[in-house]
Amino acid sequence: MKNSVVNPKVILVGAGPGDPDLITVKGLNAIKNADIVLYDALVNKDLLQYASDNVQCIYVGKRFNQHKFSQDQINQLLVDYANEYGTVVRLKGGDSFVFGRGSEEINFVESKGVEAEVIPGISSALSVPANQGIPLTKRNVNESFWVITGTTSNGNISKDIVQGAQSKATLVVLMGLRNFSLIMEEVKRYRHKHTPIAIIQNGTLPNETIAIDTVGNYKNMIDSIDYSSPGIIVVGDVVAEHPSFLEEEIQRVLEFSF
Ligand SMILES: C[S@@+](CC[C@H](N)C(=O)[O-])C[C@H]1O[C@@H](n2cnc3c(N)ncnc32)[C@H](O)[C@@H]1O
Repeated sequence: MKNSVVNPKVILVGAGPGDPDLITVKGLNAIKNADIVLYDALVNKDLLQYASDNVQCIYVGKRFNQHKFSQDQINQLLVDYANEYGTVVRLKGGDSFVFGRGSEEINFVESKGVEAEVIPGISSALSVPANQGIPLTKRNVNESFWVITGTTSNGNISKDIVQGAQSKATLVVLMGLRNFSLIMEEVKRYRHKHTPIAIIQNGTLPNETIAIDTVGNYKNMIDSIDYSSPGIIVVGDVVAEHPSFLEEEIQRVLEFSF
């Protein structure tokens, strides 16, 4: 590909969790000034309307092993397009550095002599529970939260789930729905059966859903999982802050009393 521009550049922009209003002002301005946009599967396409009329927006998403481009191809495209068009905006779901392979892309681009910039995004790990009123930390309840992948590169659950289950931390599990039962069996070994859990899908979008139950009853939640939509699992006493947890607890107490 010809090297025709003076200042080739790649900007990694975190698009936020889904609601297009949850991108940063800086990220939005980058889209407006882009010469070309490459976007991922979980990026809200409403954001693409902010690119200039003549700017191409190219889908390079990877979902459920349906990859239009391999990661190596994406890395190369970033360099080629920067050299051909100028400023490439690489739009990624949530924050590019949270399970987003952002650093791999930056390293590759810079190794080819192309300038790179990172504009942070609001990660789903933080914003999706917050949007449901679930705090990741609460004074006197927990002292940390762990953001863990539920599926490692070999398809297994992460050993960090086992470590996290042994702590009092809130566990926020991304990419874990397909391994939900395996994850819950590990959690059950260390956490009290009444520990609340939530599965939030399509967080911050109009079709957002939440299922809430306890570790002991996790099997009740399996049928409600939509494997075609993104979802996070939250484990920990902070989930009890969600209003529907209280309602379910009241129902349980009432059923038990009569
Ligand atoms: C490859 S990871 C990328 C995470 C992203 N970089 C971030 O910071 O949010 C994709 C996973 O993030 C979670 N996720 C992303 N957006 C979500 C949303 N709107 N609702 C629920 N989970 C979401 C899901 O667990 C999904 O499988």
